[in-house]
Amino acid sequence: MKLHINGHVYDIDVPETTSLLDTLRIYLKLTGSKYGCGEGVCGACRVLVDGHATPSCITPVASVQHKEVVTIEGLAKDGRLHPIQQAFLDEDAFQCAYCTSGMVISAVALKNRNPRPSRQEIIDAMQVNICRCCAYPRIMKAISNAQS
Ligand code: FES
Repeated sequence: MKLHINGHVYDIDVPETTSLLDTLRIYLKLTGSKYGCGEGVCGACRVLVDGHATPSCITPVASVQHKEVVTIEGLAKDGRLHPIQQAFLDEDAFQCAYCTSGMVISAVALKNRNPRPSRQEIIDAMQVNICRCCAYPRIMKAISNAQS
């Protein structure tokens, strides 16, 4: 099947029920998206599918064949980090960083539809992303301060 990921077209042979996350990590070696819960509730595996932050662990790869997928690897352009990535660095918005790629993806989706979210809107949008190190105050600050 043909997949559109990070501006590239990949033609790969995988079972249709394979998860998008396994396809990215195992078949395409795009390992920035992480496996956490495997049940769609922790946010570590989130990627953009047609601009929507989507849990790739519970998304069958066949369902994204005609959609544009963007992973954490696809956010930086022309050697420059995406503003959300830069803001996470500037605010030191992580500890172990296992959750970071999913956090960044959710924040990018939020900022794309709402460039100046309120504190409550950030909380609502990020509720699906869990940080076990509890870096939430710095994550909130990074998303608030990110220039988009
Ligand atoms: Fe997909 Fe947790 S690993 S939501």
